[in-house]
Amino acid sequence: MEKKTVFSGMRPTGRLQLGNLTGALDSWIKLQDKYRCLFCVVDWHALTTAYEDPTQLKENTYDMVINWLAAGLDPEKSIIFRQSDVKEHAELHLLLSMFTPLSWLERVPTYKDQLQQLKGKDLHTYGFLGYPLLMAADILLYRAEAVPVGEDQIPHLEITREIARRFNYLYRQQFFPEPEAILNKVKILPGIDGRKMSKSYGNTIDMSDHPDEIRKKVRKMVTDPGRIRKNDPGNPDVCTAFVFHGVFNTEEVANVEQVCRRGEIGCVQCKKQLAERIVSFLEPIYERRQALENKKDYIRAILTDGAKRASALAAENMAKVRELMNLGQL
Ligand code: AMP
Ligand code: TRP
Repeated sequence: MEKKTVFSGMRPTGRLQLGNLTGALDSWIKLQDKYRCLFCVVDWHALTTAYEDPTQLKENTYDMVINWLAAGLDPEKSIIFRQSDVKEHAELHLLLSMFTPLSWLERVPTYKDQLQQLKGKDLHTYGFLGYPLLMAADILLYRAEAVPVGEDQIPHLEITREIARRFNYLYRQQFFPEPEAILNKVKILPGIDGRKMSKSYGNTIDMSDHPDEIRKKVRKMVTDPGRIRKNDPGNPDVCTAFVFHGVFNTEEVANVEQVCRRGEIGCVQCKKQLAERIVSFLEPIYERRQALENKKDYIRAILTDGAKRASALAAENMAKVRELMNLGQL
């Protein structure tokens, strides 16, 4: 039986943070043994918000792939490539745009959110409105059935399914599968201030942070606001540090919960313990990254090979799409 196809992508917009790791990358690494996986540096998506200053795009692309490899993605198992190297993404985006109602794009909740949040940028562009459509094209181009992402991407997958259905209906063939999200156990990792971890909130712990930086950030992490003295009983259910214990300190998390509820450990001590767990979790990744840092040729070779393999799949599916839309050979 043929393996299921998994597709996911990340925008090369700068340093990776722990939310990217626990929300997406972690499951990518696990999936690569079982499925045919494609992992894509979506640089065109990055341009939708960075169009005024694209100078960092290439540097960020290298940096992101280095982080992916350091975390455990394996180019022997997965197809790792850059979106702009496979032009069929653009062709499918264009074809899908012909029958995608504007209202579907306008009502995607992330659209209005981002317009609000990124006020410093003019995002009233055609490209930015089309962001979810380009994402749909990425996924459908490979007829992927599963997409490992963080919870914030769910609305984008919903519209992808709607677009797949509309295509299949209009051109009378069940060609595109309706892809499902694969969510990790921790759906949204909070940042040190308790809101969603995100670069735009300045509340991240980055995969490339130095251990001392990590210790400093964890010290600032918000805990149970109702706890005033260190031997007051604490409530882990409202504590950001506790969420992190659940991810990075799985062996001791049950014990941490108990001693917190009984007021037997203070927040300072508890966060010290947590910081060391995060530091030792990131240590092997840090070392692998050091080893890759000056190997641009190697990274470029991975992306070139990945683009070749992705292109072969894309070409086959696009030929079929063209045929269904009567754009094939005259
Ligand atoms: P982005 O950096 O926003 O392009 O996100 C890349 C991937 O990481 C997407 O699958 C996101 O859903 C995921 N992600 C980003 N931040 C978080 C977070 N705080 N918690 C869980 N997943 C996240
Ligand atoms: N929108 C995704 C994000 O911000 C990135 C992305 C683009 C993506 N194309 C994709 C994710 C296809 C999964 C599948 O993280």
